[in-house]
Amino acid sequence: MQRYIYELFLKKSFDEEKLLYLLNNHYKYSNYLFEKSNLLQHKYYGNKIFVRGLIEFTNYCKNNCFYCGIRKDNNNLTRYRLCKDEILFCCNEGFNAGIRSFVLQGGEDLSYTVDEIADIVRVIKSAHPGVAITLSFGEHDKKAYKTWFDSGADRYLLRHESANFYHYRMLHPKSMSFKNRMRCLLNLKEIGYQVGTGFMVGSPYQTYENIVEDLKFIYKFKPHMVGIGPYIPHNDTPFKMMEQGSLQLTFILIAIIRLMLPETLIPATTAVASLSKNSIYNAVLAGANVIMPNITPMEVKKQYSIYNNKFYTKMNIREYLLFLKNRMDKIGYKLAFERGDSKMKN
Ligand code: 5AD
Repeated sequence: MQRYIYELFLKKSFDEEKLLYLLNNHYKYSNYLFEKSNLLQHKYYGNKIFVRGLIEFTNYCKNNCFYCGIRKDNNNLTRYRLCKDEILFCCNEGFNAGIRSFVLQGGEDLSYTVDEIADIVRVIKSAHPGVAITLSFGEHDKKAYKTWFDSGADRYLLRHESANFYHYRMLHPKSMSFKNRMRCLLNLKEIGYQVGTGFMVGSPYQTYENIVEDLKFIYKFKPHMVGIGPYIPHNDTPFKMMEQGSLQLTFILIAIIRLMLPETLIPATTAVASLSKNSIYNAVLAGANVIMPNITPMEVKKQYSIYNNKFYTKMNIREYLLFLKNRMDKIGYKLAFERGDSKMKN
């Protein structure tokens, strides 16, 4: 098995059976995996941890994903949306604290027009030339994606959620389609975005076989970024009784993804941070190299509740960055305040 891990490390093979075996026996190989993953993380990105300022600009969503707390049918949630000036204000604060890469994330909120989003992107880019803008608010048609790209957006995050058609259907209502999600991902790449995808670890009904399919999809699609995090139940969803995903398996998968695609960017996600105090450092040690401090205004941050007990800090962004910097220093990494483009080729 160590030889297979080493072959993965040399980017030579994708063997479904061996990967399945590795997942079933991961506890035996974790140290070896982390060691190899760490070597590659350092080879391609040194000890840099890229910083992205995350702005959760709307928690309205037209969809009803069974796992997600901001699903349309959740009436126990105060809904909010930020206007252009509020979003720009967040970026200004982040910029002044040194951040050069912003992520605009939200539900699929129909109230923003394509042109309004394009205008927001343009305004941020002209206020702060040289920053990178990542968009992440679900499925849209190719024309809309292209308009936002032309107005200056650099990256788009759209998790595939599951690469298995049947499993995808168990997580989503009939109104959503696996085919359309895959089409969106291809469209984003064709347009020229740096594209991020990913999935939840331990989502309801997920099997190790499904995870192997997710890894295979990722291996073939070659995304510039891969975000994964443990599934965490939310009380106001149909999946509230479902078991939480494993943090340890998340770390193992971060390492495997780093071995498969050494040049991809992997965030230590908020779901990881939400489960225990030290988990983002463990994610970094497993091969993650991006961290996304939340710069959404304090008044509304709490309402972006996609799962129970989502992590948020009461520190302001400067205090939090200083805190992170000290913690990263201690494990031998440094926060990198730059655009932080992926080295993956398109
Ligand atoms: N637990 C963990 N992750 C979740 N997401 C949505 N709901 C949950 C949950 N309950 C993830 C999805 C989505 C991303 C923004 O958050 O994968 O793509």
